[in-house]
Amino acid sequence: MADLAKRWGVDQFTNGMIGTTQRIGSIKRRVSACALLASANPGNSLTWGDFGAPIKSPLHRLLMMTILSRLMTVNSSRSRLFEENQRFANMIPAGAMVLDAGAGDAPYKSLVSHAVYESADFEKVDKPYAKSTYVCDLADIPVEANRYDFVLFNQVMEHLPEPKAVLKELFRVLKPGGKIIYTAPLFYEEHEQPYDFYRYTQFAIKYLFTEAGFTLERLDWLEGYYGTVAYQMNGMATHLPSTPAEITPGLLGVALAPLMYLLRFQMGLLSVFFHRLEMRSKFMKRGYPKNYVAVFSKPAQT
Ligand SMILES: C[S@@+](CC[C@H](N)C(=O)[O-])C[C@H]1O[C@@H](n2cnc3c(N)ncnc32)[C@H](O)[C@@H]1O
Repeated sequence: MADLAKRWGVDQFTNGMIGTTQRIGSIKRRVSACALLASANPGNSLTWGDFGAPIKSPLHRLLMMTILSRLMTVNSSRSRLFEENQRFANMIPAGAMVLDAGAGDAPYKSLVSHAVYESADFEKVDKPYAKSTYVCDLADIPVEANRYDFVLFNQVMEHLPEPKAVLKELFRVLKPGGKIIYTAPLFYEEHEQPYDFYRYTQFAIKYLFTEAGFTLERLDWLEGYYGTVAYQMNGMATHLPSTPAEITPGLLGVALAPLMYLLRFQMGLLSVFFHRLEMRSKFMKRGYPKNYVAVFSKPAQT
């Protein structure tokens, strides 16, 4: 369940929200938000048990699950990723050959159920994987040239030590006229360590893909700035220190502790607020995206 929670972005929610939901779920445990924030797990290794533990009756448990399910749908990045992959999948005709490059647990497989889906992943990270068609490095996929009509390439490029070699390989396996969707972060904490190497600006994305031979069809912010802010606030709610000693040595740490608890709680609530705002409108006039999305094609004549 911890894996499910991670995948769907419970890690995007804050210790503050956990405190709030615990209070809703357990009237007996009238613990203050500050105390909950203090006791929340800063490592974010949450489980359903963590949420449900204080709730005894099935009715309360159901209520909790309903509230949590609603909260869990608020991860604006996940929503945007699905929207973009759905939009890409809509271009794919029935029976087309699709490669999910670096598929992980294959979150978009169901979107291309009308096509012939294959996946490639080196499966080296300690996490659940869907069964890959090819367990391989993306720099060396064991298939013939021009095999695929479409390639899904989501949240993988930052993990590649040699991105040029992989783009060259993806170009090789894509048919002339075929298309590839790219998404990857510009602003995101290190993850899947030690396989996390780079963050890509829009200029690097264009440069690397066109150098590999692809033609740019479109490049956009995946989320607006609200999504970036929501992510940053969640980070603050999660990572800011909570004990006086952690905050700063001496009396100042003690004095600042209540303020820090309050700040973390507020950041938690604001994170959910900004995720929801992101879902209503994509603000792109200023700021910067958390991720870019791009679609490239392989020229028909190569
Ligand atoms: C952040 S996950 C993204 C998974 C999936 N595409 C998604 O959007 O949820 C990155 C994936 O790339 C895979 N990966 C990273 N480097 C790789 C490489 N050199 N060759 C093959 N797979 C790789 C990892 O195993 C992991 O499953």
